[in-house]
Amino acid sequence: MGKFTKSLRDTGIGIAWPASQFTCPIGVLTSVQRRYRITNKTSDRPNGYAASPQLDSNSVPFPTVTCPVGEASPQFSSNSVPVPPVPCPVEDSHGPCPVAKASRTIRKPMRPPYTPVVESLPATTPFVGPEALVRRTGRAIDLRLGANESPFGPSPNAVKAMQEQAAISQFYGDPECFLLRSELAAQLGVGIENISVGAGVDELLGLCCRLFVDPETPIVTTLGSYPTFDYVALACGAVFHYVRYANEALDLGALTELAKVTAARILYVANPDNPSGSWHTPEEIAELRQHLAPNCVLLLDEAYADFAPGTPVLDTSDPQVIRLRTFSKVHGMAGMRVGYVVAHADHVRALDKIRLHFGVNCVAQAGALASLQDSEHVANVVRESEKGRIELAEFFDTKGLRSLPSYTNFLTVDVGSKPRAEAILSRLLQRGVFIRKPGMPPLDGCIRVTIGRPEQRAKFAEVFEEVLIRV
Ligand SMILES: Cc1ncc(COP(=O)(O)O)c(C=O)c1O
Repeated sequence: MGKFTKSLRDTGIGIAWPASQFTCPIGVLTSVQRRYRITNKTSDRPNGYAASPQLDSNSVPFPTVTCPVGEASPQFSSNSVPVPPVPCPVEDSHGPCPVAKASRTIRKPMRPPYTPVVESLPATTPFVGPEALVRRTGRAIDLRLGANESPFGPSPNAVKAMQEQAAISQFYGDPECFLLRSELAAQLGVGIENISVGAGVDELLGLCCRLFVDPETPIVTTLGSYPTFDYVALACGAVFHYVRYANEALDLGALTELAKVTAARILYVANPDNPSGSWHTPEEIAELRQHLAPNCVLLLDEAYADFAPGTPVLDTSDPQVIRLRTFSKVHGMAGMRVGYVVAHADHVRALDKIRLHFGVNCVAQAGALASLQDSEHVANVVRESEKGRIELAEFFDTKGLRSLPSYTNFLTVDVGSKPRAEAILSRLLQRGVFIRKPGMPPLDGCIRVTIGRPEQRAKFAEVFEEVLIRV
């Protein structure tokens, strides 16, 4: 290997270039030659350098090269880390490098600016996942009751369908999710043109926000309700107007009023709500709808609808209501990421313009379809969750703790104060039990526990009792 290749290699940046290509330093290189050839062959690197940073997707800082011949392409640069300059590959044999001599200092390219909205966003995400908690604490989680995942898992039919589909996952999934949408439409009594499928309610909330929210667009929601809505709306530059929980439930009257006063484009309502667990009847929701201003869309997050008593009539002729549902809860497929919108066909067509067409993978589609067709599994999960909810509420009652009425697969329990709720969370985590708590007043003195299977509930009760005497 020639000198040039060696000197680049010595920097460990994993760029190889045969020296024979360098007959003259500048102006002779063809555009093809100018493009760095990237190697990740260990044998090409000193000391068995394992993986070249530029091949790593995690935006590893890249060395900047000062010599114009050896200059790194901008996409390989980072402004974050000082790096050693690479010696000019040609100056020894051709005299001083004609360009590089004036620029011996390390050039630290400026990061191109992000959009004003992105620049303004806080570096936070709505949740710290249990995996991150394990990494942080070094303690394994034995009881995972913090994310309202189904403790009953997916339907065995769904597992079988997913296994079969995984075996042929060299093929792209159907970007139209036709079979799944057809089955959903048939079961819900709406047209296929009224269903849009996405990677969970979370993704669909973000897409719906993109339909209606520009920077400075006013939106209305409940302070402390499902935080991912806030997260995705903020990413569109929305201006938030909040209503507080009243009597530990959504205050529909105040929400409608505030939506009117602020000329909100979106009113977000989770029904049943997370984290309060409260639920409003279809009649109450219909009443709220009647009071919406013509420009306002009601985003109705029905992630927990299967656990609630009433079955709402789905009126897809109304362009002011968008319902969002998921396979993450009652269907036990949170990791598969499937959700859907039921809405006016205009909205489905609009979503088609911005959604990622292969975003719902073939395995997820097959599993969701099979799960939909397994109504027995779904009914059993609803039944068992209700039983568990009653039993868990009774347990908390024996401890003198009041549970909020819940129409979901979790229970929110008043433990008296925010510091006490935080202490309980932290001590439970030390014992391998993962739960969460509402973040905002007036519910921040509560903890939230997913309804587990009977043996999980028994284990939870045992650990909780021990923790409670210390807080
Ligand atoms: C109210 C609410 N909406 C949406 C979701 C997330 O749904 P998905 O997994 O489909 O994104 C959750 C999950 O906890 C939720 O509580």
